[in-house]
Order: sequence, then C-alpha cells, then structure tokens
Amino acid sequence: MKITKFLSKISQDFQLIDEFESNPKQIMNKFGLSEKQQQIILSNDQSMISRAIINENYKKRFWSFNLPVKKSTKEGRLVVVGTGIKYFSQLTNEALYHIKNADIVYSLQADPLTVILLHKINPNIETLNNLYGEKKIRQKTYSEIITKIVNTVKANKSVCVAAYGHPGIYAMATHRAIENVRKLGLYAKMLPSVSAEDSLYADLNIDPGENGSQSYEATQFLLHKKKIDVSSLLILWQIGLVGIMDFKNTSKNWNPEGLRLLRDYLQSFYGKDYSVYIYEAAVFPVCKPRIEKVKLCELTDIEVTANMTMCIPAVEITKKKNEDIKYEFDRMFTN
Ligand SMILES: C[S@@+](CC[C@H](N)C(=O)[O-])C[C@H]1O[C@@H](n2cnc3c(N)ncnc32)[C@H](O)[C@@H]1O
Repeated sequence: MKITKFLSKISQDFQLIDEFESNPKQIMNKFGLSEKQQQIILSNDQSMISRAIINENYKKRFWSFNLPVKKSTKEGRLVVVGTGIKYFSQLTNEALYHIKNADIVYSLQADPLTVILLHKINPNIETLNNLYGEKKIRQKTYSEIITKIVNTVKANKSVCVAAYGHPGIYAMATHRAIENVRKLGLYAKMLPSVSAEDSLYADLNIDPGENGSQSYEATQFLLHKKKIDVSSLLILWQIGLVGIMDFKNTSKNWNPEGLRLLRDYLQSFYGKDYSVYIYEAAVFPVCKPRIEKVKLCELTDIEVTANMTMCIPAVEITKKKNEDIKYEFDRMFTN
C-alpha cells in the first residue's frame, strides 16, 4: 500500500489513530507497509513524509492545474475556509460544504495530502502555492493571489479558498481578497479554523488567559523593536524566515543569521538562560508535535524550520491573593 493511501485511510478513522499511537508497527504491518515506508512514517519528519507523498503522486499533477475561468451568469461569491493544521481531522462540516459546492476551489496548503483530499471532494481545484517562486518577493505573490481570486469572483464564479490553519491568521491575502470582493458589492465571508497557535496551546498545555499573551511575526517584531511585557506569554511566528522577503523552496531555516538577531534581542529582555519552546504541530495524525525546550543562548544550536513557532512562557510573578484583589477593586469602585 502507498503511504498516501495509508495516511488517508488511518487519518479518517479515529479509533485506528488511537491504536497507531500505542502500537504503530502493528498497524503499519496490518496495512502491509514496507520496512522503508515504516521508517519514513516513524521518522516524525513531516517534510520527508510530504516528499514521499509528492513522489507517489507526481504524475497526477493536479496541484498545477490552471483552470480556465469562463464567465457564468450567476453572481460571483467568495468563501474562505480554513482546513486546520492536522490533516482531515480539523476540517469542519461547514468548510466541507463550501469546498464541495464551489465552482472553483483555490488551495493554499502546507501539505500535499490535504490537496489530494480537496481534489477528491471537488475536482475543480487549483493550487495557488504555484504562484510562489524561488527568489520571488512574497508580497508580489500575495498581490497575484488577491487578483486571481477577485477576478474569478468577478467572472461570476462561486469561489472557495481553502487555506491551511486558520485562513485569516498570518494570511493577509485572504483578508484583502474578501475586502476587494465586498467593495464590488459581492458576497464574501471567512470561516475560522484551528491555527498553529491553537495547536500550540493544546500541545504545550498553556492557557494564554493565565498571564495574558503577545503574538508577533518575528521579522516585524525585530524590525519595529517591539517592547514586550515579560510577565505575559510571547508567541513569535515565522522564526525560520527572519528578514527574508522572497521565497525559498525548502522547509529548512531560510535565514540562520536572522535567528541569531532574534536570540540577541530576546536575551536583552529575558537573559541568556531563560528557556523557550520551539514548536512544530503535527500535520499528519501519525506524527507527534515537535517540542524543543532550549535556553535562549542555545537557540541557534537547534534545527529550526520555516513551519516553526516560538513560545516564550511568562516570567513567573507572584500572583495576588483573592482578598487582595477584592480590596483593590473595592478601592477602585469607591474612588
Ligand atoms: C504564513 S503563517 C500561516 C499560519 C496559519 N494560517 C495558521 O493559522 O496557523 C506560517 C507560520 O505559521 C506557523 N506554522 C505553520 N504551520 C505550523 C506548524 N505545523 N507548527 C507550528 N507552527 C506552524 C509558523 O510560525 C509559520 O512560519
């Protein structure tokens, strides 16, 4: 059995996933996976698993469709849906409905298995990931994505954009596309989904409500020298592409020098021995999340990918006692 088929099957059967977690070998043997296939899956290396899926499906080439957009007589509309971080399991019924019923699905995905799934649900799919190109400025790609979506809606098509994670978090193009479609007087909406940050709270067992939370894109964080409150949680996105404006076709860290700058800036707030988490959520249900706890001074020693997020726990402060909180509020109310 191919890895693609195995992953599709097991991911859609939650009892099997449970069984896989306690005895992966037994389940993989049951499905007849070879020793080499089993090694790939057990590597927990999501880029390697993605490459294996692409190799098994390269002939289909459905992620490079360029669908002809003929004008129709219906009024165009846009629904942007999120497919979540973990393959299949975080796709909502409402998102599925819109994917199924769209004239055209534009996909913006981080893993090839979800593209295969979307293609099964609606064969009229085109992947917008093709608009990214080696050394091409990402801002230019975002503009092309917006233009493509808006022009298709203008041609009276019902368009569904299926983006990974939450489709409106660190996804500027989807917000602008919705804005532009609405300016034309046409219908557009976004449906939320599970983001990398949501997954992080579950996997790291952290509640952002406990101490409050700050969240920044790493390049913007450095560029604007953001002042932070160390008594709150800090989440930094895109730590594997600090200071990089174009696109690199690799999941490895796009700029190790940028990570060094980030380390130095963070050390000025927390000191060099403060521990932080480097996090990669599991995309394939057979994988475990990657969680690396490191001291800030060791940040550049670990392998960081373009899909990782940093989480810096709040510096412990003495919590106020209930009677002190009551006293302070009584005082505020009486003043
Ligand atoms: C362009 S943003 C897209 C975020 C996405 N819309 C979401 O809702 O999570 C890409 C960044 O999201 C974070 N990210 C994406 N996939 C991730 C994963 N599997 N684990 C941890 N962080 C991830 C990383 O910080 C990455 O650089």
